[in-house]
Amino acid sequence: MEIKKSILKNELDKINRHNTCRFHMPGHKGRGEAFALYDYDITEIPGADNLHDAQGIIAQAQEKLAAIYQSDEAAILVNGTTTGIHSAILGSCSPGVQLLVPINCHRAVFGALGLGRIDGVFITPEIEGQMGFAHSISVASVHQALAENPQIGGMILTNPSYYGTTSDVRKIAEILHDQGKFLIVDEAHGAHLRFSDKLPQDALSAGADVVIQSTHKILGSLTQSSLIHFQGSLVDRQKIKSFLSLLQSSSPSYPLMISVEEAVDAAYEKGEIIFNTIVAAHQEFCQNQNGQEPIMLYDGNGRANGYDRSKWLFQTRGIAGTEVEARLSAKYGIQCEMSGANYVLAMTGMGTSGDDLARITQAICDINKSIKQDLLEEKEPKTPTHRWEGIDFSAAVQTEMPLWEALASEQRGKMALDMAVGQLVGDFIIPYPPGIPVLLPGSRISPEMAVYLNDLLDHQVAVVGIDANRAVTIIKKEPVIMEKNHQGQLIVIEGVDGSGKQTQTQLLYDRLLKAGEKVMKISYPRYDKQSSAMVKLYLEGAFGKDPGTISPYIASTFYAADRYASYKEDYEDFLTQGGLVLVDRYTTSNMVHQAGKIKDPEERKRFLDWLWDFEFNLYGLPIPDRVFFLNIPPEINQQLIKNRNNKITGKQEKDIHENSPEHLRDSYHSALALVAEYGWTEINCVQNSQLRSIESIHQEIWECIKECKSND
Ligand SMILES: Cc1ncc(COP(=O)(O)O)c(C=O)c1O
Repeated sequence: MEIKKSILKNELDKINRHNTCRFHMPGHKGRGEAFALYDYDITEIPGADNLHDAQGIIAQAQEKLAAIYQSDEAAILVNGTTTGIHSAILGSCSPGVQLLVPINCHRAVFGALGLGRIDGVFITPEIEGQMGFAHSISVASVHQALAENPQIGGMILTNPSYYGTTSDVRKIAEILHDQGKFLIVDEAHGAHLRFSDKLPQDALSAGADVVIQSTHKILGSLTQSSLIHFQGSLVDRQKIKSFLSLLQSSSPSYPLMISVEEAVDAAYEKGEIIFNTIVAAHQEFCQNQNGQEPIMLYDGNGRANGYDRSKWLFQTRGIAGTEVEARLSAKYGIQCEMSGANYVLAMTGMGTSGDDLARITQAICDINKSIKQDLLEEKEPKTPTHRWEGIDFSAAVQTEMPLWEALASEQRGKMALDMAVGQLVGDFIIPYPPGIPVLLPGSRISPEMAVYLNDLLDHQVAVVGIDANRAVTIIKKEPVIMEKNHQGQLIVIEGVDGSGKQTQTQLLYDRLLKAGEKVMKISYPRYDKQSSAMVKLYLEGAFGKDPGTISPYIASTFYAADRYASYKEDYEDFLTQGGLVLVDRYTTSNMVHQAGKIKDPEERKRFLDWLWDFEFNLYGLPIPDRVFFLNIPPEINQQLIKNRNNKITGKQEKDIHENSPEHLRDSYHSALALVAEYGWTEINCVQNSQLRSIESIHQEIWECIKECKSND
C-alpha cells in the first residue's frame, strides 16, 4: 500500500498559497506571537503546574488574565468556548432550574441542555430585516420570559453576535440580578472588546456573572484555546470548575495555554491601536464607499448598543454574497469567513494589517465597479434567493420530546432530507458557520425547512447533520399499534390524489381472486351513494373553496359517515365471516388530508387521537390490518392529475383538494409523517426521478402481502 505523507499539511499549504489574505478565524491571521510549538509541548512536570489544579505558573498567568479583563477570576480553556459553555451551564443549573435561552445560541448551549437534562425557556431574537440574521435580544423579551417563568434560574446570552451586533447586556444583567438570577455571556466573539473604547462594551463591564471568550477567534491565540471569567457570587464557581475538570482533556496542551497568555499580552500592549485602526477603516469605508453601491458595508443600522466594527459584514444587492466570496478568493486571494444569499462576512483580528484592509477595500470597490458595468450593459443582475424569509426558526426548539431523550433515542434511521419532511430529526442540524442549530434533535422537519436546507446546500454551505447524500438521521417513533377489532382482513391502499390507488387496488383484487381468496373491493368516497352527499358538497366548494378554511374535524365527519354507511351496507357480514376487504382510501384518508391542515404538532396529535376515537370507537369501523401508502411527491403528482377528470362530475374542473397545491403538499407531508407514526407500508412509486411501472409497484405490494401471509 502506498502511504501518502503529510496529507493535511500539504493541502493546507496549497490553500495558504492561494489565499494570502485571511479574513476568517483565527484572529492571528497566520501572524501570531511566534513560539516553537514543540519546545513548549510538555506535560505536568515539576514546575509546570497543572491546569486542573492550578497553583503555580498557570495560576499566576490566570491571575494576570483576570486582572487585564478586570474579572474576579479567570481560567484558561483548552477545549474551546464550547466546554466553557457546557461547564458554566451544567454548573449553574441545579435540578428543576430552567435556563433562559435565546434561540440563536451556539450549538454548545443546546448541547449543555441535552447533557444536563436542563429545561430551556426559549426566546426569539430581533431579526435584522434585510439579511435575516438574529440581531439582538430585546430587554422586553427577557422581562416577559422572567415574568412568565418563575423557575428560570438565569440566562445565557450570546454577545456580540457572530455578525457583530449587540444586545443591551447591562440592562439585561440588571433585570436578572434584581431577581437574584445569573447571567452567563457567551462572548466567543468578544475577547477583543475590552481593548478599545471604539468597540461595544464587554460583558464583564456590563455586569455578567460568567463570561466565556474564544481568544482564538479575534485575538491571536491558537484555535481551540479560550478563557472563562467569573465575577460576583451568584454562581457557584467551584461547581463550574469541577465540570471544567470533568469535560476538558486531562492532558491540557501547554502550547494552547501559552497562546492564550501571549495573545492577551499582545492585545493589552497593542490591541487598542490595532482595533482602533480597524474601526477607523470600517467607518471610512462606510462613509466613502457605501452610497448606492451594490456591495455595502453594514454598520449596525445605528442601533443603540453599538456595533462591533471588527466584523466587516458586506451586504450585497444584485449579486449573491456567495458569488462575491468566490470572486474575492479567486481573483484577489482574499478568503472570507462566510457568505450567504445577500452577505459576505470578513472577520478581522489581531493579525489584520492596514494592507489587508486596503486590499479588501480595493477588491470590493473593483467588484462594485464590475457589477455596475454589468448593469449598464444590461447583463441580467443576479437576484439572490431569500429562503430564510418563510422560515419559522423558533420551530427548531419546539422539540416533541426532551432533548436528552432525542439524543439518546435508539430508534434511529437515515432518510433523504426531501423524504424526511414531517419526521422528527435525530441530530442537530447546523449550518456552519455560524454554528447556530436550525433543528434540534426531536424537532419536526417542516417542508419550508427542507427547502431552506436544500438551498443552503445548493450554495455550498456546510450543514452539519446532513450527509453527502443529503440524508438526515430521523427518530423512528414506535408506531401506534393498530390492534385488530374484527375477524376478517382489511387492507387499505392509500395515497394522495393521482397516486394510482384505483389501478393498484384493481390489480391486487384481480390477483387475490385468482389466488382463490375470498375478497371484495370498495372505493371511497362512494360518490354514487347518498351517504356521500356532504363529501360532495365539501369537495365542490359549498363550504368554502379553500380546504384549509374548513375545520378538519367537521370535514372528517362527512367522510366517516359515508364509510359507516358502507360498513353496514357493503361488508360488515363479509368481514365478520373472515373475508378480505380491499379498500381504495379509508379512515386513513381523513388522517392524510385533514391532519395535513394542522401545523401545530400538538394540535395535530390531538386531532389524530380524536379521529381514531371517532371512527373506530364511536362508529365502530374496523381497524385496518395493513395500509399501503403509494408515495408520489407532489411535483410529479400534480403533472399526473392535471388532465384527469373530476371524480364527482366526470368533467375537467377540479375539486377543492385537487385545486389547492398547498393542500396537496400539506397532505403529502402529513402522509409521510403518518407512515412512520402508524407503521404504514410505504411504496415508493418514483425511483431516480422516474415513475415506476404499474406492474413493478403492484409486484412490490403483492410480495408484501405474500410475506405477511406466510408469517401468519
Ligand atoms: C457564538 C459562539 N459561541 C460559542 C462558540 C464555540 O466556540 P469554540 O469554537 O471556541 O469552542 C462559537 C464558535 O463558533 C460561537 O460562534
